[in-house]
Amino acid sequence: MSNQKIQIFDTTLRDGEQVPGCKLNTAEKVDVARRLEALGVDIIEAGFPISSPGDFESVEAIAEVVKDSIVCGLSRAVEKDIVTAADSLKRARRPRIHTGIGTSESHIKFKLNSTPERIIERAVAAVSLAKRYVEDVEFYAEDAGRTDNEFLARVCEEVIKAGATVLNIPDTTGYCLPEEYGAKIKYLKENVTGVHKTHLSTHCHNDLGMATANSIAGVINGATQIECTINGIGERAGNTALEEVVMVLKQHPYLQKTTNVDTRQLNAISKYVSDTMRVPVQPNKAIVGANAFAHSSGIHQDGVIKKRETYEIIDPKEVGVDHSSIVLTARSGRAALAYRMKNIGYELTRDELDIVYKSFLEVADAKKEVADEDLHEIADFAPKLAV
Ligand code: KIV
Ligand code: ZN
Repeated sequence: MSNQKIQIFDTTLRDGEQVPGCKLNTAEKVDVARRLEALGVDIIEAGFPISSPGDFESVEAIAEVVKDSIVCGLSRAVEKDIVTAADSLKRARRPRIHTGIGTSESHIKFKLNSTPERIIERAVAAVSLAKRYVEDVEFYAEDAGRTDNEFLARVCEEVIKAGATVLNIPDTTGYCLPEEYGAKIKYLKENVTGVHKTHLSTHCHNDLGMATANSIAGVINGATQIECTINGIGERAGNTALEEVVMVLKQHPYLQKTTNVDTRQLNAISKYVSDTMRVPVQPNKAIVGANAFAHSSGIHQDGVIKKRETYEIIDPKEVGVDHSSIVLTARSGRAALAYRMKNIGYELTRDELDIVYKSFLEVADAKKEVADEDLHEIADFAPKLAV
């Protein structure tokens, strides 16, 4: 069986931008969109055009410059939202309208003060209206994670009849377990007439830290699109991190799923988005965190120096990081010290290493991390080291 291509739908500029305090202006958004296109994402959700004149202008500007990726605009199942989204996408080469409505009991009763039958009517009307403007219409069933599967299947079947090309199954509150979310996708795959003509899409939030696991469970069970953001930024605890799902699929080839993403650009785009949106990346963040390829304990350092793969499952170059780093701390051993000394020009004999190691431990106990300058200073005080 050949590998199946999974569509990567990036929502950094829409769901990602819902992070408090990280609003971008149009020029910044266009810049991010260009980089996302160069990265190889299939769909760029450029914004929520009805939400503000600024958002409308950004979606319009992105639609104008993006050539290969699909450009998508979000709308609620509300006429003026859909018409505005269509208007903002007029110049897009490959436009998509993303429209939808809440389908869980709690959304229907408390948020929408409606009934299941009325929700189906509104969903169908929204997709039919969007279809008048664009061929590619994605429908989202908000809070699908907590929606009864039988009802969700009915909604999906009706919107497919109305012309939906993609069905987004969001775990809006990040509540599902991977088995449960995977089973939901499988259920839809097996019980919705016409589903084979559409893409089933995952859209998982990270409230319980399971967004990546849930997205992958979705793909294993038949989803062909993943919605995600750079660095996993987004509402509350964030969205699925693009870099994580892409690398999971790449590092597990037996899953037989690939993406169009050029993984060597991941580190650079992560830094760019973090700087532009002013949202720091936690140091231990998978794939793109500052410590993702840093080794500080003596046992690990010894292993990595002998063979990188002993403690690394990804070649850092694959994600655009030059090399793994050996961080010198009080927990580092002689192997790490010799390695770092060699990197800055000192080839040490066994006896010399013993002497230097003693001074190194004193410095390491006093400081959190020992830098190259400290090593030079230690070497200056050690008797006649070979440089
Ligand atoms: O989390 C969610 O349900 C959403 C939809 C608007 C797609 O972001
Ligand atoms: Zn969302």
